Amino acid sequence: MAHKVGIIGGDGIGPEVIAQGMRVIEAAGVELETVDYDLGGERYLRDGVILTDEILEEWRGLDALYVGAVGTPAVPPGVIERGLLLRMRFTLDLYINLRPFLAPDGSHEFVVIRENTEGTYAGEGGFLRKNTPHEIATQGSVNTRLGVERAVRYAFELATTRRNHLTLVHKTNVLTFAGDLWERTFNEVAEEYPQVDTAYNHVDAACIYFVEDPQRYDVVVTDNLFGDILTDLGGAVSGGVGLASSANLNPEGVSMFEPVHGSAPDIAGKGIANPLAAILSGAMMLDHLGETDAATRIRTAADSVAGETGTTVEMGDKVIAAL
Ligand code: IPM
Ligand code: MN
Repeated sequence: MAHKVGIIGGDGIGPEVIAQGMRVIEAAGVELETVDYDLGGERYLRDGVILTDEILEEWRGLDALYVGAVGTPAVPPGVIERGLLLRMRFTLDLYINLRPFLAPDGSHEFVVIRENTEGTYAGEGGFLRKNTPHEIATQGSVNTRLGVERAVRYAFELATTRRNHLTLVHKTNVLTFAGDLWERTFNEVAEEYPQVDTAYNHVDAACIYFVEDPQRYDVVVTDNLFGDILTDLGGAVSGGVGLASSANLNPEGVSMFEPVHGSAPDIAGKGIANPLAAILSGAMMLDHLGETDAATRIRTAADSVAGETGTTVEMGDKVIAAL
């Protein structure tokens, strides 16, 4: 039976790269029953719709969601991010953000597990005396035992399927409350996984190691904001963000797959965006749908053309030719 997948091309280069992802999936012989959703900054500018409860309910009945990129310069920052992407992550409880990277020397792949529903992203905080000289803005970080533990457990489980090595990244020397909860949870869960070697890095040090010594990493687990920053760095050191793919997972529900990059309005419509991150995100989706054969073939094909250049369609052609 065909897998039922919701497609959100989104804004800017989003629809262009997703179109290539869809071509490649089809060429790999996987049948998808797709439902298109016209959402993003452009849609919002047209009729004010960001996301509706009805659409969210519909999504719960899908097998997966495949997203290009959302965001338009004409919409103030935060509106689409919070109203669409974060609402999707929070409401569908996509609590794992999984982002794999190829080490800069090509020697191995390492993966960052980013907690995806809490931390500074939770939206706790507010203004006092806004627009006065005495203005106060607070932005809290929400860390629940449940939220931390499920991310940590997912990371340990993943580590056991790989090289049995897991690094916690945080900033326990300064964030003494949130860091303490993360560290205690990590250490407690670690006792259940004696076969997994564990390590801890402060996030600032991790930034150095990502660049200078990524060999030390196999699976990394971290909070939402550190994970956001660290995965852009991961993309930058491993062939560029044009290759960085991601999965937003609810292991018990519907999951969403998207490239790490944004809508890149500066190159939108020119047909020059690199579709490989979207294609690789499509491979992650196929893995999740149980189409592991096709996923592996797509990954191998995409990796084999990663050093090449071409238009968006040409890059899609190259991957299909290499399948
Ligand atoms: C990402 C993006 C999002 C994030 C933005 C668009 C809200 O940067 O997926 O990494 O910060 O999580
Ligand atoms: Mn980001």
